[in-house]
Amino acid sequence: MANGKNIKRRTFIKAAATAGVLAVGGAALWYLGGLRGLRKAALRQFPGVLYTERLRQIVTQDNTKARALMWELSSPMENQMVELRVQGAKEAAHRYPGMDDRFTDDGIEVYQYTAELDKLTSGTHYEYRIVAGDAATDWQTLYTPTESESYKILIFPDAQSSDYSDWKEIAHLAWARNTDAELFACMGDLVDNGEDRLQWTEFFAGIKEMQRSIPMAPVMGNHETYNLDWKARLPEAYLRYFQTPTNGSKAFGRYYYSFDYGDVHYVVLCTQQKEIGTFKSGLLEEQLAWIRRDLKAHRKRWNVVLMHKDVLQYRINGRPEREEGIDEDNGRVWMPIFDELAIDVVFSAHLHTYRNRGHIYGFEKTPDAKGPLYILTGVAGNVRYPNLWIDHAFDEVTLPQPETDNYLTMEVSRDALEIACFLSDGTEMDRVRVTKK
Ligand SMILES: [Fe+2]
Ligand SMILES: [Fe+2]
Repeated sequence: MANGKNIKRRTFIKAAATAGVLAVGGAALWYLGGLRGLRKAALRQFPGVLYTERLRQIVTQDNTKARALMWELSSPMENQMVELRVQGAKEAAHRYPGMDDRFTDDGIEVYQYTAELDKLTSGTHYEYRIVAGDAATDWQTLYTPTESESYKILIFPDAQSSDYSDWKEIAHLAWARNTDAELFACMGDLVDNGEDRLQWTEFFAGIKEMQRSIPMAPVMGNHETYNLDWKARLPEAYLRYFQTPTNGSKAFGRYYYSFDYGDVHYVVLCTQQKEIGTFKSGLLEEQLAWIRRDLKAHRKRWNVVLMHKDVLQYRINGRPEREEGIDEDNGRVWMPIFDELAIDVVFSAHLHTYRNRGHIYGFEKTPDAKGPLYILTGVAGNVRYPNLWIDHAFDEVTLPQPETDNYLTMEVSRDALEIACFLSDGTEMDRVRVTKK
């Protein structure tokens, strides 16, 4: 939905400045030394510390072998390296150069760095740190799954907010309760306004600890395509913040992508053909051709789709002319493809409500679990639509209205995908199992 309340930008900046957020910036790179009298003691107690911000892991196409790392500094620095070692080892096993990936958006130059960690061994617990000169970050964990890994993934619906406190709370609590999760996905509309740098920093603040420990799989939402005037633009900041796997497209590189984690092949679609279509056409057609090639090349035991906009059309209170059915732009187009490609589960978002619709095949409900399970993931920020949606005949589980925030877990094993939905306080609201013999 495009009508989320936006942060009053000036107010937000003023509040952030008052709190010292802007002045300090947090990413200051501190070198010890200078105060000669204290130098020795200081060096012993405080070895050079590198302060990075938004240090994060992003999924790669094959997470058994590679991982993307990204981070920011408050001022540019040359010759940064990532050191990687097997957990417990004294010596670094690999060193990778940090590539300068700075960009300017919202009038702010962001000193961002990236590294692709390749040649990894699957099923290994690693540690990594960023090193610059004689300063370094703490060691962080990094795990490479096996091909048949059983694991848990955390899934977060729309985080977009006018005040990110609720998002930070649910993201922190979800991670605190699930530090055994091996990766997490954010289902799009990560921010309310895709050009607003302060909103991005607020979004990332919610996943600060999680994103440096386990990789993130981001999904692009329509709000990532809004500029400060609330008009459509290309998702420039989103594409900068997330070095997701390439998709071979010239026009829409990284707008959509896929990756493997354990026994699951994840297909991450871009549902913003309308917004992006203002600037360049062909996004949908390209994905329709790509998804068949992609599944042919990468099909796994389990195949899961992550897409921002939903496939069903819901009635809306106060708009009697709007009928219940299949969404014209995304449902009519994608559902037959998901049937054809035997997708197991489709996660969507965008409507800020949780709905488990069970299995659907040929646009019909299938009590014998034929066709994909369709989960509309809910809301994880403070932009809520109380009393807006009218239940769909396909809905099997909804949450008590008006809805608060929720998150999901999916436990992957050889025999089942088990999906559960939780409120911020940890109350379990739904649990569903997809099995395969
Ligand atoms: Fe949204
Ligand atoms: Fe949306």
